[in-house]
Amino acid sequence: MSQTHTAHSPSSTEPHCSFRSAVAAGLGELQKQIPCKYLYDDEGSELFEEICQAEDYYPTRTEMAIMDQYVDEMADAVGPRCLLLELGSGSSLKTRLLLKHLHEPAGYVPVEISPAALEQAVEELHRRFPDLEILPVCADYHTDFSVPSPSSPVERTVIYFPGSTIGNMTPDGAAEFLRHMHAWCGAEGGVLLGVDLQKSEHVLERAYNDGEGVTSRFNLNLLKRMNRELGADFETDEFSHQAVYNSDEGRVEMHLVSDRDQVVTLDGQEFHFREGESIHTENSYKYTLSGFAEVARAAGWKVEKVWTDASRFFSIQYLTVDMDD
Ligand SMILES: C[S@@+](CC[C@H](N)C(=O)[O-])C[C@H]1O[C@@H](n2cnc3c(N)ncnc32)[C@H](O)[C@@H]1O
Repeated sequence: MSQTHTAHSPSSTEPHCSFRSAVAAGLGELQKQIPCKYLYDDEGSELFEEICQAEDYYPTRTEMAIMDQYVDEMADAVGPRCLLLELGSGSSLKTRLLLKHLHEPAGYVPVEISPAALEQAVEELHRRFPDLEILPVCADYHTDFSVPSPSSPVERTVIYFPGSTIGNMTPDGAAEFLRHMHAWCGAEGGVLLGVDLQKSEHVLERAYNDGEGVTSRFNLNLLKRMNRELGADFETDEFSHQAVYNSDEGRVEMHLVSDRDQVVTLDGQEFHFREGESIHTENSYKYTLSGFAEVARAAGWKVEKVWTDASRFFSIQYLTVDMDD
């Protein structure tokens, strides 16, 4: 990344410290679990891009098709001279389409935890949009980072949160996160976000157990990452990827299941796994349109517009501040 567009990085030791302590704490719980953001190291981010291309993984394809069809309406809803703040920008692929249609955007702020993914995306965007001011922030969006100001006037700050990443949070967590967004974009602000919808269990489980096995490699990479970065000794061949729909909770759960009784060591501490015991690595909540509207309302947002595909598999929603709140 060029000097003028240096990412606002947290200190280099911090991510490792928090990864180490999150893993130690998570493996110590009754249901072992690790926060899903740790799936995204460089390798994980690349694998995620592959998942997006997988035949069985409908969300990316469907969200892109909705954007293709309605991007002009989205640009009109967002309005002119907006500062677009994207949370978990990854490759910024969908953003390219949006940026092409926005009316005189004041700037683009991609916020991404993976430095390599951020750097690559920003380089590509500079090439494609030489006149756009890009202010990358390399940070965890669950921490307090400050939003950089572009040099041209901003009419409205709009948070772009595609990919149904909001579905990785519990509904209460999603409401809390949406509430927090007011601080980033103020009373005139908006949120343009992807929300995956409830559908048949078969389609959902197929999407997260794709025939090419990419999601499995993505999930298992977390074990490799713990070995690589933390010196853990996971036998990665002795765990299996599992994705199941939990209908009571309305979410797809991803797990890494131990194929046998085994002991894993990290920093001299032993973690015991029984055969069939799992580490819970990700949740993907699926919403009804009314269910998500309730979450948004609880967070002081009004659903202004909803765009969906013909099968109602996925939605893109534009939220504005609920003045009645
Ligand atoms: C599901 S991908 C979505 C990427 C892209 N926005 C899209 O819709 O295709 C999630 C992205 O968010 C990033 N990410 C996950 N948790 C994050 C966090 N807590 N803070 C910042 N970035 C995060 C990941 O590295 C990854 O690039």
